[in-house]
Amino acid sequence: MAVTRPDHPARPPTLPAVQLRLSDAVREQLWFGDEDPARTALEASRSLAAALASAMGLKPFPVVAQRAIALLNDPDTPLRKVREALEQDLAITAGVLRIANSAAYRPRQPLTSVEEAVQRLGSRHVLEIVTCVAAMGLFKDAKGVGLPLRDHCSRVGAITRVLAAEWHQRTADNPFLCGLLHDLGKLLLIQVSSLDYQTLDPRALTQPDEAFVHERALLGYDHAVLGGHVLDAWKLPTTVAEVVAWHHQPGRAYERGGEVGLGVALVRLANLIDYQMRVEPLVNEGFIALLAQDGAAQYAGYSEAVLRAMWPKLKEASDQMLSAMGG
Ligand SMILES: [Fe+2]
Ligand SMILES: [Fe+2]
Repeated sequence: MAVTRPDHPARPPTLPAVQLRLSDAVREQLWFGDEDPARTALEASRSLAAALASAMGLKPFPVVAQRAIALLNDPDTPLRKVREALEQDLAITAGVLRIANSAAYRPRQPLTSVEEAVQRLGSRHVLEIVTCVAAMGLFKDAKGVGLPLRDHCSRVGAITRVLAAEWHQRTADNPFLCGLLHDLGKLLLIQVSSLDYQTLDPRALTQPDEAFVHERALLGYDHAVLGGHVLDAWKLPTTVAEVVAWHHQPGRAYERGGEVGLGVALVRLANLIDYQMRVEPLVNEGFIALLAQDGAAQYAGYSEAVLRAMWPKLKEASDQMLSAMGG
């Protein structure tokens, strides 16, 4: 029988390294700002860390895409290196060229290589496309409520981008990615089976700003905060992670202001627009009037006239993105 000497006490059991690292990643700034911290903060952060660990285990962001994104972020990178990095994963390269050639990006001539795409669309757009292909590729097997949710993400990405591009007063950081990834946490919650959305009040799937209330009550955290942490762990731009984490905490985001405040306003606006377009694709004057009064429109400075004028373009971009993504 093994004897433990008092000067060599048995080591206490340790948690697996990956879980420790992920727990550390539950960063304060991505956490709730408007919750009662004494109530469930610790419990909720533990349960979020557990969901984060399973989500990261189930859906690791492709290393090839991570490397390509790092290269695209450096303006001095030779294009050949971006191509070589992407060529390690032919499915990603094919997906990038398919989306770069779609109506959503409207190249004048067909793009036949990654180098050409970077030269003609610019590294920022290609970075967006690589992230989009890699992130949404993780959910290509989505079914049930995951399927309309994935399409919602694609459409909101396109709408957010048009909103940002058409209104030049201020700039938002990566508006397309913020919109595309805003409900990533819901897709992950479905995948890790933490929550069955079909058992919730049906409004959780048909009304904006509804699901996160149920999630907080049942899980102690919501899809926005989970999504923000996953994006942070995937090393995507911090602003994107923060906009995603706070898209159901508009008061907090607008108080912070800057790119996060504007990003949250644009995503919230795009989210409302997509919910409406699903029911009624054409302009509805009553809806436009209400939308212009919403805090997001007021914060970002979109008047009723601007929103009405933009509607056809928003609808077109949303349809184009959906078909580019194969929806
Ligand atoms: Fe959301
Ligand atoms: Fe949404």
